[in-house]
Amino acid sequence: MSGRLAGRFIGLGVTGSIAAYKAVEILRLLRAEGAEVQVLFSNGASRFVAPLTFEALSRRRVDADVLDLLPDGRIGHIIVADAADAVLVAPASAAWLSAMADGLASDTVTATCLATSAPVVVAPAMDGDMWSHPATRSNVARLRDEFGYAVVDPETGPLASGQSGPGRLAALPAIVDAVVQAVERRPIRAADASALPPTIGEVRDADLLGRRIVVSAGGTAEPIDPVRYIGNRSTGRMGIAVAHAARDRGADVTLVVGTVSVPLPDGVRIVRVETAAEMGDALVDALAGDDGRAGFDALVMAAAVADFRPRSESPTKLARGGGLTLDLVPTTDILAGIARRARGHDPDGTPARAALDPRPVLVGFAAETGSLGRAADKLVRKGVDLLVANDVAEAGSGFGTETNRVTFLSQDGTTEALPLLPKREVADRILDRVQALLDVRDRNPQTGVAPGLPNGAAPGGAGWTGERR
Ligand code: CTP
Repeated sequence: MSGRLAGRFIGLGVTGSIAAYKAVEILRLLRAEGAEVQVLFSNGASRFVAPLTFEALSRRRVDADVLDLLPDGRIGHIIVADAADAVLVAPASAAWLSAMADGLASDTVTATCLATSAPVVVAPAMDGDMWSHPATRSNVARLRDEFGYAVVDPETGPLASGQSGPGRLAALPAIVDAVVQAVERRPIRAADASALPPTIGEVRDADLLGRRIVVSAGGTAEPIDPVRYIGNRSTGRMGIAVAHAARDRGADVTLVVGTVSVPLPDGVRIVRVETAAEMGDALVDALAGDDGRAGFDALVMAAAVADFRPRSESPTKLARGGGLTLDLVPTTDILAGIARRARGHDPDGTPARAALDPRPVLVGFAAETGSLGRAADKLVRKGVDLLVANDVAEAGSGFGTETNRVTFLSQDGTTEALPLLPKREVADRILDRVQALLDVRDRNPQTGVAPGLPNGAAPGGAGWTGERR
């Protein structure tokens, strides 16, 4: 990963201040700069913010109790203190500054700062009168002058109390810059995962090495006129997490991506598309290689493809006038079409030629609201090996969230409901299934059928030829 903090391990201390919610964004910025981060909560922090978002973003359990041990028995704050390239305390409350000035190690943030020899960066945030009080002034002076901490002074502006004055947490990029500056002259240490607190979820081997995996992500934009389009709420997070995870596990990844609002991963081939039709073309192009054999081993279709598009695009911008009625037509079901082609069927579902060899594993998503009752039907209709169903209306699931709760539906009729997990962990669970399906495929090259199906039978049985829409 590139970025000014690539190869760095940062302890992020969050303390009991109204500005604690801003620490989520600080964590995101640190991660975007390439840092591995362990979040530490003071005793008051969890009254203001909850650990889940921090855990999803950092992929590590928040250390919130100075007396808690890591799962392997190591002392969390000592491990962080030793491994950290820098410790950032943001926001630092008046109470925390006072505890730190006195060396009162009654929470993980203070204990980590006491135990570390790494540079410490402190970004205070509090009410203006508290900031101006001589007690706070002398605590800050002690941290800065005696302890050598870098203090990113708060700004003057509107405060939570409704007043205006000094005490607002400094601009977040300035805080991240201070961390970058603090570590600048220190050599990057050799990566040693065993010296760091553990990540959530097991770290997988390169078990997809050499596998060609295509992932679709994001929404599609169906033009109305040169200015407007029909889109959807997809941010692309889920598909991009799959692309990341597949890359990390050694796969050769192509990401076919529509409208997204998160950064695209390095180290994967990117094909940008706008409309459902363009996405369909890109995937059909990728499906067969020049030699007529399958162009990829697996497709994970996470894109939120538009179901309807305007029948025609106006060449000129439509004026507001008295109103607008759009004539919408359904888009082609890309995934069902890919499944038919892969199995050598015509677009109308009749068998026409030999199935692609080797037969690619196909994974679809089903975005539902309310219940997952329709998902089993979708598995059949789409003709996929695995359907990942989620309720996009549920808190913590679906569009724009860092987490997802999904249920897997397989061709052999089994379902598996996963708990609420960070999207990266969901991505790895999907790839575990893909890996297993590829193994089965490779053990049965002569038939290429999904496990549990009669030889030559099309997955979905009678529903298979009826999947047109
Ligand atoms: N999909 C597709 N082409 C479309 C619409 C959806 O390939 N035109 C894919 C999606 O990427 C997803 C799966 O089909 O992997 C299911 O998408 P979803 O929107 O849940 O289902 P729909 O096909 O739209 O069915 P319905 O309208 O009945 O919900």
